[in-house]
Amino acid sequence: MKAKETPPANIVIFGGKGDLAWRKLIPAFYNLFISGYLPEQFAIYGVHYEKMEEKKYEAHLLEGINTFSRTGKANKEQWKKFAARVFFFEGDFTAEDTFRRLSGTLSANDKEWKSRAVRLFYYSVSPRFIEPISLFLAKFELANDTGSDRIVIEKPFGSDLHTAKELNQLLTKHFKEKQIYRIDHYLGKETVQNLMAFRFANIVYESIWNHNYIEHVQITVAENIGVGGRGNYYEQAGALKDMIQNHLLQLLCVTAMEPPVSLDAEDIRNKKVDVLKSVRPLTKADMRKNVVRGQYGEGTVNGKKQPAYREEKNVNPKSTTETFISLKLFVDNWRWQNVPFYLRTGKCLEKSTSLIVIQFKPVPYNLFGNKIISDPRPNQLIISIQPEMETTLLFHAKEPGVKMVIKPVEMDFTYKESYDAPVPEAYETLLLEILEGDAAMFMRADQVEAAWKVVTPIMEAWKKEPVPRFPNYEPGSWGPKAAEVLIQPQGCSWTLLPENGITKNTIRKK
Ligand code: BG6
Repeated sequence: MKAKETPPANIVIFGGKGDLAWRKLIPAFYNLFISGYLPEQFAIYGVHYEKMEEKKYEAHLLEGINTFSRTGKANKEQWKKFAARVFFFEGDFTAEDTFRRLSGTLSANDKEWKSRAVRLFYYSVSPRFIEPISLFLAKFELANDTGSDRIVIEKPFGSDLHTAKELNQLLTKHFKEKQIYRIDHYLGKETVQNLMAFRFANIVYESIWNHNYIEHVQITVAENIGVGGRGNYYEQAGALKDMIQNHLLQLLCVTAMEPPVSLDAEDIRNKKVDVLKSVRPLTKADMRKNVVRGQYGEGTVNGKKQPAYREEKNVNPKSTTETFISLKLFVDNWRWQNVPFYLRTGKCLEKSTSLIVIQFKPVPYNLFGNKIISDPRPNQLIISIQPEMETTLLFHAKEPGVKMVIKPVEMDFTYKESYDAPVPEAYETLLLEILEGDAAMFMRADQVEAAWKVVTPIMEAWKKEPVPRFPNYEPGSWGPKAAEVLIQPQGCSWTLLPENGITKNTIRKK
């Protein structure tokens, strides 16, 4: 849908001067604007509790675009047109007056535009403000049109199953479920959206996408950076709540879900919830064998000194928060019976890379014998979410020559080689979907709760178990040794994208 077809929109960002608005939201809206995706009539209000001059706010937002936008520095003309629609709105999130004034402003726009505009209320705020904002939006009937008024919520969505349920109850007291867009920005990533196309627009893979052909699945989201200035938040979260409960479980859902009957939001989300509900609950014994946690010590990453997690700003010097976790899960349904799903994520690892690896089973009978197949690694499909954005199929081929020698080769699909068009940022895609009222890529209440249920046994066990001796991995490594051991019974190890024609890290013993 392009600008002219999209209805007018009033966009309100609570936390309009915050980091998210600065780095992600405003650059994303700007890029949607210059690509012609925003409606003819729209206005963006950045709500912030402290007074700020309009000109200063503009300069602040421009700096954000110039620093973080994928399209580089803002174009002067385009910026002028865009900035004319963006306004600073001074207001305390806990004061009635803010919402009374907001109501007047939005209604005045509706009058001028001669139509009741779509309203998008973006909560880019600390969790304690969710309640007062919701209460006042309801009190002043600001989001009363359930067809066109939308509430957008960022993670963390609760801090456990109980608080997530409370939050869902609070929101659904004031708004209809279909109005609530719970964001997981991983679902807006181009390559994650493409995974749906890859799986459901092609016949070749779907028929082998099951336990008969797949030996195991690996999902890695690795980062080479530490927690930096986010110590306050991270101390409460840790890798389990920060990454596994949301991003990695969503990647698991897209990888393991059944084909939906349509692209309708409910059809897609039903299939994802089915995956989460099918995850086999971890027992006490599984906790010992199948879950590994770690915390980085001091060292170097890419030649740069990296302080230990416990020495980072706003981190307890005796912190027991995990900065790394890997685990083995099973999805108990017909398609995935006994196929292990290995998940791992961590900070300060060797490199930043997000991958989904599908490892296929070996051929039932090795006709060629081990002499001819010198490297008997199995077929693998490696889907790089970022940064490379490519899909690689690793399979066997005969090396040219008079003798039969079989070695693995790769078949690659890369965005760089296949497309000239620039790839949008996740937030651009997601914000446009919200404006268009398509909730397929957003979390429904039951989905968030089901994801919390998956990680609850781990949280419970960690409360009781003694903490491992932290720190237990060096920055620039691939995490604790035990994470390697976790996957070894499968006869292989964690896989990375092939470099120079060779998949690193995968060694099959048999
Ligand atoms: C966020 C986490 O949700 O995702 C961060 O809070 C993490 O800790 C980030 O760094 C990773 O996102 P991306 O898009 O950079 O892979």
